[in-house]
Amino acid sequence: MGKIVAIDGPAGSGKGTVANILAKECNLTYIDTGAMYRAIAYASLQNNIDISEEDKIVELANNSKIEFIDGKTYLNGKDISKEIRTMEVTRIVSPISSIIKLREILVDMQRKMAGDNDVIMEGRDITTVVFPDATYKFYLDATLDERAKRRYKENIEKGMDVSLEEIKENISKRDYNDMHKEVGALTRTEDSVYIDSTNLTIDEVVKKMKDVIEV
Ligand code: DC
Repeated sequence: MGKIVAIDGPAGSGKGTVANILAKECNLTYIDTGAMYRAIAYASLQNNIDISEEDKIVELANNSKIEFIDGKTYLNGKDISKEIRTMEVTRIVSPISSIIKLREILVDMQRKMAGDNDVIMEGRDITTVVFPDATYKFYLDATLDERAKRRYKENIEKGMDVSLEEIKENISKRDYNDMHKEVGALTRTEDSVYIDSTNLTIDEVVKKMKDVIEV
């Protein structure tokens, strides 16, 4: 096992943004586990599989190859980086990620992806299930209002037309679902460094994390 930086936190807390920067600056392989759940959600939509058809979703995951290459997400060789960020996928990804057998498959994939590399991995259950013995553990947080505003800004920049209210409602529903899962629920562990980024810039969050990692 190489060095493992594990980050958990709710949707929109900035995990992806800071993990990307730290990966480059600290020479770590970035693994976005949310993108993996999104890839399966996207594939389910493509194959007209309903979220209630758990066996079919599990089978789909068993036959899926997910890769991260040059900051892009690939499913069975196809770049799906943009497709997995649509509201359609975002609406169904949390319930899909509650399927226990699917989690087993993806957690296994995540551990294999890490291999012996030095990695920075972010999601909801990284510090608790995937790598409870990670070298460094963080819990990144921010208020619901602030997280919704960030997602809204991101969407505007991408040309996506979704109202702030709809984003806030989606995030709040996902928070609840992600925190109340039978397996892999989002929890803040005592041994994680807690960072509330509500009033911090990205650079300030990165600096706080670097202070921990680069000792
Ligand atoms: O980080 P994100 O918003 O892209 O994640 C999408 C969904 O995937 C999130 O609502 C919960 C789920 N997820 C999970 O259950 N476990 C993870 N390790 C990462 C994401």
